[in-house]
Amino acid sequence: TITPVILCGGSGTRLWPLSRKGYPKQFARILGDESLLQGCAKRLSGQGAGLSFAAPVVLTNADFRFMVAEQMLEAGVEPGAVLIEPEARNTAPAVLAAALHVAASDPDALMLVAPSDHVIPDTGAFHAAIAAGAEAAASGQMVTFGITPTHPETGYGYLELGEAPDGSGRAVALRRFVEKPDADVARDMLEAGNFLWNAGIFLFAARDVIAAFEAHAPELMAPVRDAVKKARPDLGFLRLDPEAWAKAESISIDFAVMERAGNLSVVPYAHHWSDLGSWAAVSQEAGSDENGVCLSGPATAIDCENTLLRSESEGLEVVGLGLSNTMVVATPDAVLVADMSRTQDVGQVVKTLRAKG
Ligand code: GDD
Ligand code: MG
Repeated sequence: TITPVILCGGSGTRLWPLSRKGYPKQFARILGDESLLQGCAKRLSGQGAGLSFAAPVVLTNADFRFMVAEQMLEAGVEPGAVLIEPEARNTAPAVLAAALHVAASDPDALMLVAPSDHVIPDTGAFHAAIAAGAEAAASGQMVTFGITPTHPETGYGYLELGEAPDGSGRAVALRRFVEKPDADVARDMLEAGNFLWNAGIFLFAARDVIAAFEAHAPELMAPVRDAVKKARPDLGFLRLDPEAWAKAESISIDFAVMERAGNLSVVPYAHHWSDLGSWAAVSQEAGSDENGVCLSGPATAIDCENTLLRSESEGLEVVGLGLSNTMVVATPDAVLVADMSRTQDVGQVVKTLRAKG
């Protein structure tokens, strides 16, 4: 059995105004009528490829706890535990807390750490990759999943392969993990040809990831251990101790552990994966017509090309006339109108608005 650990505490600002501080993208029904969290929970439940999944451990923060509970119920997946982070501390403390929680009942349990906001349509292929990773994880490896890179993206981690994959889908040794390189380094790695993108999904035994934190991020051990030990049950949730948690550094698992660890493997994943990191990525997933027009909700395009028109509200008709390379996302209280070339800069909007107060 594999215990899914679903990370559900992020705040995807690049999909503003759909993704909000109080309603981040993992809860939104961006493609179809299932939220990304629900898709994730279903993908990691039941059985497949000889695997069986235990009830997932979900990590989120206090503001989202009822949304998590409601959406999991609707998806028909009962969580094993929902751990509440008193404040967002990024993914390293969250994963360590989950590992300590899981290890308390079974230190050898394999944990599959999964972001709640990704699109992975081919469940069969994904389960096969997890099964391949489980073999390596059972022998003490910390397993990553590698996506074939298409451009010098700076928002991802890069995985340097220690050997060429033999095509069997099995895990291969990982030589180096480089988190979010700058543009020059990303370009070099893309050209080198032996790098894959880190999908942000990890598989390891609870005891091995705890040992990796002890070795590479020892300063997180005491606060997170304390926060888990003093966690209090609260309406079916498990609330980590706020005082202890406040002492944990805010850092991602990629920087805290993965860049520094030695026992890493990678399972190449050649099937479709998207982290829906921008509105352009959403258009691509949703599909567009022969003019590159992507419509969602009550929206109409007249003589438009390469344009995204989205209305998030039944009573709000969005009409584009003669637009090209434009994205329009209308919600009841905010409308984004932007040039398609600025799709990566939407996070900046949120910063600007917050600074304005
Ligand atoms: N519970 C919890 N608490 N979840 C969090 C927190 C937190 O404080 N911060 C982020 N998350 C969740 C997000 O919701 C997301 O599902 C996942 O953890 C990853 O966090 P991101 O903030 O989205 O990371 P990233 O996209 O910048 O980078 C990671 O993913 C890339 C692929 O999408 C890294 O692993 C990269 O190496 C990787 O390429
Ligand atoms: Mg992300």
